[in-house]
Amino acid sequence: MRAFSLNKDLGGEFKIDRIISARPGAEDKPLDASLRPRCLSEFVGQAKIKENMAIAMAAAKGRAEALDHILLYGPPGLGKTTLAYIIAAEMGVSIRITSGPAIERPGDLAAILTNLHSQDVLFIDEIHRLSRVVEEVLYPAMEDFALDIVIGKGPGAKSLRLKLPAFTLIGATTRFAMLSPPLRDRFGAVYRLDFYEQAAIETILKRSTGILGVKAEAEGLKEIACRARGTPRVANRLLKRVRDYAQVKAEGMVTQVVAARALAKLEVDAIGLDDIDHKVLRTIIDKFNGGPVGLDTIAASISEEADTIMDVYEPYLLQLGFLERTPRGRLATPLAYQHLGLPCNRPKPPQPSLW
Ligand SMILES: Nc1ncnc2c1ncn2[C@@H]1O[C@H](COP(=O)(O)OP(=O)(O)OP(=O)(O)O)[C@@H](O)[C@H]1O
Ligand SMILES: [Mg+2]
Repeated sequence: MRAFSLNKDLGGEFKIDRIISARPGAEDKPLDASLRPRCLSEFVGQAKIKENMAIAMAAAKGRAEALDHILLYGPPGLGKTTLAYIIAAEMGVSIRITSGPAIERPGDLAAILTNLHSQDVLFIDEIHRLSRVVEEVLYPAMEDFALDIVIGKGPGAKSLRLKLPAFTLIGATTRFAMLSPPLRDRFGAVYRLDFYEQAAIETILKRSTGILGVKAEAEGLKEIACRARGTPRVANRLLKRVRDYAQVKAEGMVTQVVAARALAKLEVDAIGLDDIDHKVLRTIIDKFNGGPVGLDTIAASISEEADTIMDVYEPYLLQLGFLERTPRGRLATPLAYQHLGLPCNRPKPPQPSLW
């Protein structure tokens, strides 16, 4: 049986989350808070980003200035929110958290901006979902630390410029392409978070076992890391499920065998794919002869939303090299056929000729 949990996302609608979904579910909230690294040295992996951030923070501190605005993007569950908290903590400033859909009107943003203190961090999650009118308020705020207010209406209206404290905006998004170019250009630093290497996930799991007080062998953690889709949030969630299984069936010890059994029960395959990933691949292969097929068509065939496929399922399948994005749609690669144990008899694309 598949494990479901109900998750109310920021848009307000209820969604059914998969055990290996990288999106946060209701069960993740307390877990996320307790396992979230508090400083840059506890943050595992993403070496290049950490190095650049450490330099930028030291320089800003040295000049007693606010840090440049930062944009963090990448698939869900890789540590964008975590990094925002860490930056504020390391800079010794307060952080104000909000999200694109939560800021409905320009006045909402103006209220937030005028309440910031010098050098504070303003974190806007899902920044690609800000409306255009709200974005317009953000431009002068980011560029000149100024808020333009219009008083009155019609020809008699007057524009007033209000000075804001120098602050740092940290924007996070899973959809870099949906950010408007003027907004994108106003960030001093843009960091893309990548899926984590297996070794980094094992280190994260080791740290989590310490915090949660779980007894685990290295081989047990390796087994979980293989199936965590390179995503810390998924790794921690799987660890929690394996811990429950170990407690009931194996006197609390997470060994390789215990982890493998627990994960098999959750119907997560050896590389972290579940039945929906399989459905996506089988649909492209069986119904559309391996593709190319449009995202909307795949979504309709398996009764999922195109957005969900794009945000949650597709990034990892692309990372594994199981899917290819082409101008004419998604294509299943021979690796996908191999993983599903299917013969790949799709005609090979013609080789470019030199003559
Ligand atoms: N580098 C890391 N080292 C250790 N733990 C991490 C790391 N990155 C993320 N985590 C863990 O994964 C959880 C999810 O991370 P986080 O909430 O920062 O992801 P996110 O990128 O903001 O996701 P979303 O796009 O869904 O908002 C954190 O609570 C933390 O426990
Ligand atoms: Mg987040």
